[in-house]
Amino acid sequence: MKIYRATDYQDMSRKAANIISAQIIMKPDCVLGLATGSTPIGIYKQLVEWYKKGDLDFSEVVSVNLDEYRGLPKTNDQSYDYFMRQHLFDLVNIDPANTYLPNGMAEDSEEECLRYERLIQSLGGVDLQLLGMGHNGHIGFNEPGEAFDTMTHCVKLQERTIEANKRFFASADDVPRQAYTMGIGTIMRARKILLVVSGEEKAETLRKALCGPVTPEVPASILQMHNDVTLVGDEAALSWMA
Ligand code: F6R
Repeated sequence: MKIYRATDYQDMSRKAANIISAQIIMKPDCVLGLATGSTPIGIYKQLVEWYKKGDLDFSEVVSVNLDEYRGLPKTNDQSYDYFMRQHLFDLVNIDPANTYLPNGMAEDSEEECLRYERLIQSLGGVDLQLLGMGHNGHIGFNEPGEAFDTMTHCVKLQERTIEANKRFFASADDVPRQAYTMGIGTIMRARKILLVVSGEEKAETLRKALCGPVTPEVPASILQMHNDVTLVGDEAALSWMA
């Protein structure tokens, strides 16, 4: 695992954006696995800035997102589809037809999971998967205890995740109770993984994920078994590392 230590959130965002940017330059028609949440916002901002300066071209890029809430239409401003358009897709020259997320409104959830997994395969797999990490070590919506070999599936959200995400909704009651997520098996198939972690409150979980046993209790710990992971963390998240 390559570890880049960033001074702060902005520096982390710029370093991670550089890695994504290099991927796009080296392979203009790459498949990017993308994430939502607060951590990647600065990365997307930086990518948009470079696109506007003429340094980046998304015209051939394909994207597949990690996850989406079940039951929220794309028009809902808390859907991940909306988030991606707001922070990246509407601001760069990516072809909207090349941007994929699970369909939160699909009637048959099992069918939707299969469709999404097949779609990723038909695109030739993910070249670079961007990942944030939850306070409990979750990646995507794969919560502690989730088996390591799962493919795209529909999960029931844990109370802690509902609590953490309620800041984006009017109340905790409005947070959807289910979500679609790439499984850990899906994530591990990506050719490269870029993990970004910021903030002191995630430092202890990050230490366990990197240095502790590989266990489903810390989903991100599985990344120790992937042969091409880059972590970009800020000082606060990496404070425990000498
Ligand atoms: C988002 C996702 C989640 C987040 C994680 C961290 O697509 O899959 O696993 O990466 O919850 O969220 P933030 O960045 O908001 O702390």
